[in-house]
Amino acid sequence: MIPALPLSPQVFAILSALIEERTGLQYDPNERELLADRVSPRAVERGFDSLLDYYYFLRYDPDADTELALLVEALVVNETYFFRELPALKVVVSEVVPKVIAQGRRPRVWCAACATGEEPLTLAMLLDEAGLLGQVGIVASDISGRALTQARSGAYRRRSLRSLPSGVVGRWLEGDENGMRVAPHISREVEWLQINLVDPKALSALGQFDLILCRNVLIYFRDRTIEQVITNLWQRLLPQGQLLVGAAESLLRFDVAFDCEEQRGSFFYRKRGS
Ligand SMILES: C[S@@+](CC[C@H](N)C(=O)[O-])C[C@H]1O[C@@H](n2cnc3c(N)ncnc32)[C@H](O)[C@@H]1O
Repeated sequence: MIPALPLSPQVFAILSALIEERTGLQYDPNERELLADRVSPRAVERGFDSLLDYYYFLRYDPDADTELALLVEALVVNETYFFRELPALKVVVSEVVPKVIAQGRRPRVWCAACATGEEPLTLAMLLDEAGLLGQVGIVASDISGRALTQARSGAYRRRSLRSLPSGVVGRWLEGDENGMRVAPHISREVEWLQINLVDPKALSALGQFDLILCRNVLIYFRDRTIEQVITNLWQRLLPQGQLLVGAAESLLRFDVAFDCEEQRGSFFYRKRGS
């Protein structure tokens, strides 16, 4: 392992502010060592022996976007697994999606921050079970190109498979406990895109959705970023569209035009107004 380069409080302040501005990811001063550990391998790989020089490169060099994309891979936590926080996904399939179909429309669902894809693929499996696969447009995105490469491959290792209900293997996943592959009729229903949630321009190209899942990512952002992101997501929702966040996340403290509705123990945020 490459030893971390020194990171003074002053350089921490400007480097962490730059990272937060570009990705939303927030580091508190007590995480200075953690940030130095994560950033140093990239700085060294790029030929720097000072994190201040690396900061100037990231801020001003014409090639900075390419490097920032590589740095993002060192910073993000892509932790996820199949059938995570299942009760809310069941409500999506039994309530949210059928109601849109009953209105004569094809529901559009967006899994923002899908990591390596287990969440949208689980949703596709549940829709298949309900006979609704093919009637729903599923878009899945993440900031991490590496995570999306894995999502597109459809191949998964043990960590992703730790919570599989019975009946899944053989029907939607093939392999053994050391590694499995998603059935092609499931993976082809998901459109994978690389999207940074703090970039409103990137979001506006996506069109509008009946439901957005944005689960277990807002915890990495500070409140002002969360408010900015959920405002961006609000704009991507159709009238009366719904936003679903992680089971441990709440949006009640934010002044964004959502009504919080409990549906079978899960909380959905419905876009207010018509
Ligand atoms: C812990 S995973 C959550 C995965 C999945 N939604 C779930 O609940 O299991 C968080 C994901 O957020 C992504 N992420 C972090 N910052 C992001 C940003 N600014 N835009 C888009 N995705 C981001 C990370 O790359 C990571 O894959």
